[in-house]
Amino acid sequence: MAYLLALDQGTTSSRAVVFDADGKVCGVAQREFTQHYPRPGWVEHDAREILDTQLLCAREALALAGVAAGQLAALGIANQRETTILWERASGRALGPAIVWQDRRTAAECERLRAEGLAEVVRAKTGLELDPYFSATKLAWLLDHIPGARLRAEAGELAFGTVDSWLVWHLSGGRLHVTDPGNASRTLLYNLRDGVWDAELCAALRIPPALLPRVVDSIGVCGESDPAVLGAAVPIAGIGGDQQAATFGQACFAPGMAKNTYGTGCFLLMNTGERPVPSRHRLLSTVGWRGRGLSAYALEGSIFMGGAIVQWLRDGLGLIRSSAEVEALAASVPDSAGVVLVPAFTGLGAPWWDSWARGTLFGLTRGSGAAHIARAALEAIALQTVDLVDAMRADGAAELVELRVDGGAAANDLLMQIQADLLGVPVVRPRLLETTALGAAYLAGLGVGVWSGTDELAARWHAERRFEPNLGDAARSALRARWARAVERTRGWAAE
Ligand code: G3P
Repeated sequence: MAYLLALDQGTTSSRAVVFDADGKVCGVAQREFTQHYPRPGWVEHDAREILDTQLLCAREALALAGVAAGQLAALGIANQRETTILWERASGRALGPAIVWQDRRTAAECERLRAEGLAEVVRAKTGLELDPYFSATKLAWLLDHIPGARLRAEAGELAFGTVDSWLVWHLSGGRLHVTDPGNASRTLLYNLRDGVWDAELCAALRIPPALLPRVVDSIGVCGESDPAVLGAAVPIAGIGGDQQAATFGQACFAPGMAKNTYGTGCFLLMNTGERPVPSRHRLLSTVGWRGRGLSAYALEGSIFMGGAIVQWLRDGLGLIRSSAEVEALAASVPDSAGVVLVPAFTGLGAPWWDSWARGTLFGLTRGSGAAHIARAALEAIALQTVDLVDAMRADGAAELVELRVDGGAAANDLLMQIQADLLGVPVVRPRLLETTALGAAYLAGLGVGVWSGTDELAARWHAERRFEPNLGDAARSALRARWARAVERTRGWAAE
């Protein structure tokens, strides 16, 4: 039996999962790591801690599965995207923190670049918005704030990477400096049509090209791990950003198929086929995967606060003791009684892209209680997703027939029902919710030929539950109109 190791390096935890060739989970390990919030709007990780927790998980998952590294056909990586790491080639030591995708420290710089007219160029070439979410302005910040870094970068002494590059560098004992087109397409530096790093954007964003990794296929062997790391040399055969990997794990192989992952944020990706589809409604056009004869692009809607809203109810407000409790609390009232929560805690992502919007609770009365706020929180997750689907529709994307869902909060039945009600489209939850890791295993397994192709993988996908929309058009329109008014009022709140 062939085994595959999936490394799922997420925003709040590192996970490793061992799968067998039937796609069955044989061993799972997970470790949370420290989130650093040094200033309002800043979010950092320690790159070393990312690496250490990820390697510990890999060894633990293998031990739990009773699988030796030598029995692995390949390993695949799914990673939190955009998070930016700068390191020294000679020592492999990170310089400065990993600046996390949620970090907004470059909001003013993005505004300055927009004022220079760069937003249009960025959109046309990369399919992205000129927003602090993406890597390039974070990398420029590191180069500007770490003494000597810019000169050393120009001299070729330093390397930049998103988390996939950082992990592969260390897995390979410093021999491989690579990334896949999906991760590259989140940096603001990758030309989507030509499939190369873009010299004009590197110059405009002040990024020395010597820093950039080589772009290799998402599916296919790019090298081997150093035997000292896992105990044997293992082919590294799959690399994907976690949302791309989840789309793959959800078997969204045909154009028009879409998934939404309810993790820290929410990320809705629709497969648009072999060509990028430019968005006119501020969605992102991005690479899905490439390799072994497969090539897919996606339209993406990225929401910064998804499951994290529930964490805030737990840790910030103390309304619940565990995230799972939110469902019962929200279900204890029939509706939010007019309470609306706009969770713009770190600004608003797609389709608004407003770094200065801030979280706001509307409609409080003396009758409002914790349950109404909990219900409004779930509705906010669902309503943000509805805005994305609207933007996709306006972009002329294929009409959504059903929405495949995954991620921690997809286990919440009430949220899934609210989602179906507000979308007016069935929401379908797969049997295996481990879709991100599964996607990484699928990329790697296809890369070494454990599986024959996507038809074989699509046949393995099974629904666990289907949530049918159950709300009249008038009620849906009223809730959506109220939400639109609330969003409008949060815009620009924190601007100077
Ligand atoms: O773009 C950010 C995304 O990749 C983070 O995903 O699952 O770590 O919240 P997650």
